Amino acid sequence: MAIQKVGVVGCGLMGSGIAQVAAQAGFPTVVREVSAELVEKGLRGIEKNLARLVEKGSLTEAAKNEIQGRLKGTTRLEDLKDCDVIIEAIVEQLPAKRELFSALDAICPPSTIFVSNTSSIPIIEMATATKRPQRFVGLHFFNPVPVMKLVEVVKSIATDPAVYEEIVAFGVKLGKTPVRAKDGGGFIVNRLLVPYLLDAIRALEEGVGSIEDIDNSMKLGCGHPMGPLSLLDFVGLDTTYYISNIMFDEFREKRFAAPALLKRMVLAGWNGRKSGRGFYDYADPKNPRPMSL
Ligand code: CAA
Ligand code: NAD
Repeated sequence: MAIQKVGVVGCGLMGSGIAQVAAQAGFPTVVREVSAELVEKGLRGIEKNLARLVEKGSLTEAAKNEIQGRLKGTTRLEDLKDCDVIIEAIVEQLPAKRELFSALDAICPPSTIFVSNTSSIPIIEMATATKRPQRFVGLHFFNPVPVMKLVEVVKSIATDPAVYEEIVAFGVKLGKTPVRAKDGGGFIVNRLLVPYLLDAIRALEEGVGSIEDIDNSMKLGCGHPMGPLSLLDFVGLDTTYYISNIMFDEFREKRFAAPALLKRMVLAGWNGRKSGRGFYDYADPKNPRPMSL
C-alpha cells in the first residue's frame, strides 16, 4: 500500500520540521499538538521558514500556498485516523510515547504504519504498547529537519521487513538520505554524538575552557558548524537530559551519564535556545551571549 497521507504528532522543534518536509514533498499532512496555541505556534514557524525560502527565490509564492494548503493542524488525535503513516515527535519520555501509541492503536485501522522520531529509545519499547509491532519503525530525523539530509531508519526485531522497506522509500520521498540502523539506544548518530556533547559539559564543569572557547575550539579547530555547547542549546537541554538518561539506562556506561550541570540547568528551566536560555542567553537571538554558570 502506497503512503498517501501523513500524520505527525508533536509540532515542536522536530514535529514542525517533519510536517514541513512532508507537505513540501507533496503529502497531505495533519499535525497534532496538545493545545490550539501550540498548533498555531508550530504552523507559524513553518510559515516563517517557507516565507524565507520565497525571499531567497527558492520557492514561489504559489508553491508556498500549495504547501500550506496541504498542512492541517489539530488538537484531536482522531483527526489522524485516516493517515497511512503517523510520525511521533513528542517529548523524549517512554511513558508518554507508549500512552500515545496505545491511544493511536485504538483509533487507527490495522494498516496504519506507526513511526517514531525518538533520538534514543529502542523502537521495540514503544512498539509493544500496540497490537501492531510489525508495523512499527524508527525514523530519526535531524535538527533542523528541512536542512539536514540524513534520516536513520530503525528496524526492531518485530518490524516486518516489507514495512521497513516502505519507510526507507518514504524517507527518500521526503528528500532525505536513509541509513539503516540497528535498534539499540541512540542508534548510530547519538551513540557517537551524545558522549561528545556530554564531555563538552564535563569540560566546562572542570574549567578546561570557557563556554565561548570550548565552542570556538571545535568550530575553528575542527570545522564543526556549531560548537558543542551551542549545539546542545540548539537540540534542547531537556531533550539531551532525557536522551542521556535513556542511553545510560541502556548501556550503564559513564560516558552516557548526565553531568550534574545539565540536570541543574534543566531543573531551572534553562532548556536552551527554545526557552531563551541555556549555555547562552538568547535575549537577542542574533547575538547570543554566554551565561555565567
Ligand atoms: N529551519 C529551516 N532552515 C534553516 C534553519 C531552520 N531552523 N536554520 C537554518 N536554516 C537554513 C538557512 O535558511 C540557510 O539556508 P540557505 O543556505 O538556503 O540560505 C541554511 O540553513 C544555513 O543557515 P544559516 O546561514 O542561517 O546558518 P548556518 O550556516 O550557521 O547554518 C545550521 C545553520 C544548518 C543549523 C548549521 O549551524 C548546522 O549545521 N549546525 C549543526 C546542526 C546539527 O548538528 N544538527 C544535528 C543535531 S543532533 C540531532 O538532531 C539528533 C538528535 O537526536 C538530538
Ligand atoms: P520539543 O520540546 O521542541 O517538542 C515536543 C512537542 O511535543 C511539544 O510542543 C509538546 O507540546 C508536544 N507534545 C507532547 N505530548 C504530546 C502529545 N501527546 N500529542 C501531541 N503533542 C505532544 O521537542 P523536540 O526537540 O521536537 O523533540 C521531539 C522528539 O524528537 C523527541 O523524541 C526527541 O528526542 C526527538 N528528536 C529531537 C531532536 C532535537 O535536536 N531536538 C533531534 C532528533 C530527534
